[in-house]
Amino acid sequence: MIDGVFNDLPDMKIVLIGYMGSGKSSVAEILSEKLNIPFKDLDEEIQKVEKLSIPKIFSEKGEIYFRRLENKTIKELLTLNEKFVLATGGGTPCYADSLSQMKNAKDTVTIYLKTPLPILCERLMNEKGSRPLISHLNTEEELLEFVGIHLFERSHFYNQASLIIETANDSPKQIAERIVKLLF
Ligand code: S3P
Repeated sequence: MIDGVFNDLPDMKIVLIGYMGSGKSSVAEILSEKLNIPFKDLDEEIQKVEKLSIPKIFSEKGEIYFRRLENKTIKELLTLNEKFVLATGGGTPCYADSLSQMKNAKDTVTIYLKTPLPILCERLMNEKGSRPLISHLNTEEELLEFVGIHLFERSHFYNQASLIIETANDSPKQIAERIVKLLF
């Protein structure tokens, strides 16, 4: 259904979704190099506008403020007459109308990077500090329980992507190569 679909689209947008630690930013960056189109990162766009880091936005302004901003920012990006590869935040498709905006946007494909729970937890254990939703979890067991439930709740949204890529422990480069083969 998607084979070759993007060859002639001047404003194609490739939007990566998936849980924290699934590799969205690394894969998007490599994909953008391979396709020679700009890379954007939704969290970075938000941080630029707010002039605050994501943890600071959460602690000083609260999660709801962040979710509103996330929704507003993705809508703005999706209406640009530009092509790009976008890495979203782990929660982006799960709040307000962000998922339907992504799915209905012109010349846009959404790709879910589906990574097994143990691999996510292994990666996230070392990167908790920069992620406000999990920074309070102390042990591997706590992290596994939290992420297990959270991923279960969010899978309903992620699974609505146009394309689902099972990443296992593949490198970002391998994943980007698979995506290119599927899309072009
Ligand atoms: C979040 C994921 C983060 C960031 C924020 C909230 C989430 O992005 O947007 O901390 O709700 O899963 P990454 O998926 O890039 O870590």
